[in-house]
Amino acid sequence: METKRFYIFSPGLRLWHWVNFFAILALFITGLYIGNPFFLGPIGYEATYAYDKGITMDLIRKIHFVAGYVFLSGFIFRVIIALFSKRDRLIIPPFWRRDYWIGLKEITLKYSLIMRDKEGNEYIRNAYARSVYPLIYLLFLFMIITGFAMYGMSNPGGLWASLFGWIIPLLGGEFMTHMWHHWIAWIIIIFAILHFYLVVREELIKQNGELTSMFTGYKVFEKEPVDIEDIKE
Ligand code: HEM
Ligand code: HEM
Repeated sequence: METKRFYIFSPGLRLWHWVNFFAILALFITGLYIGNPFFLGPIGYEATYAYDKGITMDLIRKIHFVAGYVFLSGFIFRVIIALFSKRDRLIIPPFWRRDYWIGLKEITLKYSLIMRDKEGNEYIRNAYARSVYPLIYLLFLFMIITGFAMYGMSNPGGLWASLFGWIIPLLGGEFMTHMWHHWIAWIIIIFAILHFYLVVREELIKQNGELTSMFTGYKVFEKEPVDIEDIKE
């Protein structure tokens, strides 16, 4: 079978993806600890000894905030690369195009095992991925706003409180801001698990380089993807 190799993901996007992945991993683990230090069971140290060993809530929070700054910087970087390169704007779902709706029908049938994965059209990015990634970016933004709003509470006149403090009364106070930050953290992790499953699924069925594409930048197709214009600069 003749195949074609297409260059899809820019170095900037790949760099962002993996920095973001590790930032979220650190944020989630430290975040769960902040919310409930006993989430792993009573395995920690009593406060005096914890302080002695340097494993304190202070340290865990510091890691969360450093990862938070990395996450914020990554988000700004991601927006900037999208402004300058067309292939980095694949996250805008083309609702106005017929091929998007055909793709939506096809991928629904494929994921329901009614249609074979190799039948139908090829897409650089399937319609579900195109629709869900922008929502995930909005959730990233929500985590940044609520995270830095809570962070800014220790300095009410400071930069973070002035930039994002407005969200706290909007969500119903400090407690509810914590809760929303906590719930959305779980939605992001559930997305990540499903996302990883679907990437591996695609790779196993099509052997099209899906799994390695976020490292190499390339994917392999048997026919020309119908949305190929979206990555031509
Ligand atoms: C915290 C975990 C993760 C998050 C939040 C995440 C998020 C994302 C996002 C937002 C995109 C879209 C990028 C864009 O074009 O703007 C993406 C694409 C992608 N990710 Fe992840 N990712 C995670 C983990 C992983 C892992 C573990 C893999 C496994 C190799 C992976 C492989 C990919 C691939 C192959 C794509 C491109 C898929 C496509 O074209 O639709 N991701 N990811
Ligand atoms: C995907 C990204 C993030 C995840 C998964 C995450 C996760 C969490 C979780 C689960 C909590 C505990 C909430 C609770 O039960 O009370 C938390 C607390 C917190 N997070 Fe995040 N977070 C993220 C991003 C951020 C960012 C960008 C900041 C900005 C600095 C931030 C700042 C905070 C603060 C200030 C707290 C409360 C700390 C405290 O009460 O001592 N988070 N985070």
